[in-house]
Amino acid sequence: MTTIAFATCTELLALDPDDALLADAVRALGAEVVPRAWDDGAVDWSAFDLVLVRSPWDYHLRRDAFVHWAARVERETRLLNHAATIAWNTDKTYLRTLAERGVPTVPTAWVGQAGPSPSLADLLAERGWAGGEAIVKPAVGLGSSGLLRVPAGDPGGAGAAHLSALAAAGDAMVQPFVPSLPVAGELSLVFFERRLSHVLRKRPAAGEFRVQPEFGAVTVPATATPRQLAVAERALACVDDDALLYARVDLVAGPADEVWLMELELVEPTLYFEAAPGSAERFAQLVLDAARA
Ligand SMILES: Nc1ncnc2c1ncn2[C@@H]1O[C@H](COP(=O)(O)OP(=O)(O)O)[C@@H](O)[C@H]1O
Ligand SMILES: [Mg+2]
Repeated sequence: MTTIAFATCTELLALDPDDALLADAVRALGAEVVPRAWDDGAVDWSAFDLVLVRSPWDYHLRRDAFVHWAARVERETRLLNHAATIAWNTDKTYLRTLAERGVPTVPTAWVGQAGPSPSLADLLAERGWAGGEAIVKPAVGLGSSGLLRVPAGDPGGAGAAHLSALAAAGDAMVQPFVPSLPVAGELSLVFFERRLSHVLRKRPAAGEFRVQPEFGAVTVPATATPRQLAVAERALACVDDDALLYARVDLVAGPADEVWLMELELVEPTLYFEAAPGSAERFAQLVLDAARA
């Protein structure tokens, strides 16, 4: 029997509800699905026909170990998405590469671990962002980890302190706060094998700006405009991986209605099967095809 591991974390061995839908759909096609924590040293990954990266939502705490894990698993069996893609996409500095290649991304100032750490106030002034709120976040993060919303002028200096702390530990990002987030949230375009499968909007709870379900956000089916689709496809075209199984492109609206890329998620995105009837079944078939290839 074809056996597929879902790589998750210890807390999610029962799988999150969205991946449970996928597991059911894969099992309905006659394959076995076995959730395993990526960092469980007792797992023999070579016993699986395919290791599908789904919810290792603690990797940001030990990114190097995770990237090494992916490379090792890929030497032993099939891994999707591929280890090289995982290495590239677990560090948000890939956004800088995309911006350099013409993809419109949320304006970002990068503060490197290597270089001198500029003061937040100077950096915001230099970029012309001093009049508004800002976001300070780590380049390696997920689920809004390590992210701080900083009021204009940074009264109390919490933003500056946060930036110094992040920059001491790794690369950090400073962005103007995108005002559309609390109102419109993010538009997510889900691609299977580079073809658009479904689109949804993640709307934050009242008074929130983060779009994860843990913060009360809701998901509604949506459609993408040609402009939004074009940005998503431009971002995907920069991905050098001819076996990309899944991708989620998160877009936001800039203040002049620009279409900006917030994230291109190729590692462990929630794929929101529940927002699109039939999508779990379609994806399950692709997963099975990959496992049997
Ligand atoms: N510049 C920004 N302006 C407003 N909200 C932001 C900004 N950057 C991030 N956020 C909010 O924080 C969430 C998490 O940030 P994101 O960059 O997507 O990292 P991750 O999802 O990997 O934690 C976003 O989905 C969005 O809701
Ligand atoms: Mg995100």
